[in-house]
Amino acid sequence: MKFDFTEEQIMVRDTARDFAVRELDPIAAKLDEECTYPADKIEMLAEMGFLGVAIPEENGGGGMDYVSYVLAMEEISRACAGTGVIMSVNNSLVCHPLFKFGTDEQKVEFLEPLAAGEKLGCFGLTEPGAGSDVSSMKTTAVLDGDEWVLNGEKNFITNAPNAQIAIIFANTDKGAGNRGITAFVVPMDMKGVSCGPKEDKMGIRASHSSSIFMEDVRIPASNRLGDLNKGFKVAMITLDAGRIGIASQALGIGRAALEEAIEFAKERQAFGGPISRLQAIQFKLADMAMRLDAARLLTLNAAYLKDVGKPYSKESAMCKVYAAEASTYISHQALQIHGGYGYTKEYGVERHYRDSRITEIYEGTSEIQRIVIAASLLR
Ligand code: CAA
Repeated sequence: MKFDFTEEQIMVRDTARDFAVRELDPIAAKLDEECTYPADKIEMLAEMGFLGVAIPEENGGGGMDYVSYVLAMEEISRACAGTGVIMSVNNSLVCHPLFKFGTDEQKVEFLEPLAAGEKLGCFGLTEPGAGSDVSSMKTTAVLDGDEWVLNGEKNFITNAPNAQIAIIFANTDKGAGNRGITAFVVPMDMKGVSCGPKEDKMGIRASHSSSIFMEDVRIPASNRLGDLNKGFKVAMITLDAGRIGIASQALGIGRAALEEAIEFAKERQAFGGPISRLQAIQFKLADMAMRLDAARLLTLNAAYLKDVGKPYSKESAMCKVYAAEASTYISHQALQIHGGYGYTKEYGVERHYRDSRITEIYEGTSEIQRIVIAASLLR
């Protein structure tokens, strides 16, 4: 891995940083409090090419690389982790599989508007009875003439209430387990598609999640994404890329918590001076900074491997679990440093504490990442 960034990568990072400071910092706490989807900010991110960062320009994207995507995601999530995940899902769980597995026609019809941010996407894999255990999904797709007919329910789908396009996984060969799943592109305005109420979540409240119900939804046969019965691999390959995005989100949350803890420690007076001079606080800050830097190196390494076309499945799982756990650790310690003040909404650390928690759960729990890493070591 190269340790210095290109001029273009630095420009992307600085653009994202300026945007985050100017547009997100002033409203992030309110978005969280009121559970508001930041539609105008998403439009601005789209104009900057941030909804399809690593998708080529000819396919509607920003034409940048995955390292740039990591840098941008960290900056956006540092200010507002909810906005970060809206961006991450569209980039890596929707645009990425459409770019990798889509036909030329699908790229024109679906990828271009998604990567340009004219439309928003969501990723329908999880079901009430199939979270970590993907192959237990119950949603079905049956071919009827030149249409697929989909029936089933997806839940906890990030962006669903705001999305125009969903990538949906369904059983096309019941009983074949992970070898009987196929991916489809489903416009959310198709007859028979509906969303449940928005989930009232603990954190990342600017991003909206809900169930998706499908009742005899008829989509053209040409909306199949990738090969028949190869959807499990489409999902796994997509999640390999997605987990780098979530690791970057975790970096942003961790950095916000660390920066606020440093500022507070320098100001808060106790035992005759600022608490930053106490080793109890210094040791915490040192551990927080070490874990954040280690997480960033793992994340950039996974992105770099992806950019140069090398395998990165294990590295993506490693950066996801490490950055997520670093982020929950850092926000926990930041709250501790703030003491009682940290437990109030007057300070940002309680939001970072809540936001960090999801990074250990979605796009594969920390336990699932360890399974992926161990499987790779033992192969
Ligand atoms: N790339 C390519 N192929 C892969 C792969 C990868 N990363 N991982 C597995 N495969 C292939 C295997 O090679 C195998 O192929 P063959 O059948 O040809 O041999 C096949 O897929 C099955 O592999 P496994 O036996 O390893 O699969 P498994 O059933 O044991 O499951 C698992 C593995 C790691 C548990 C997997 O099910 C998993 O990742 N689960 C977690 C799901 C998840 O992350 N869900 C998140 C939902 S999305 C979300 O959260 C979005 C959001 O809101 C933000």
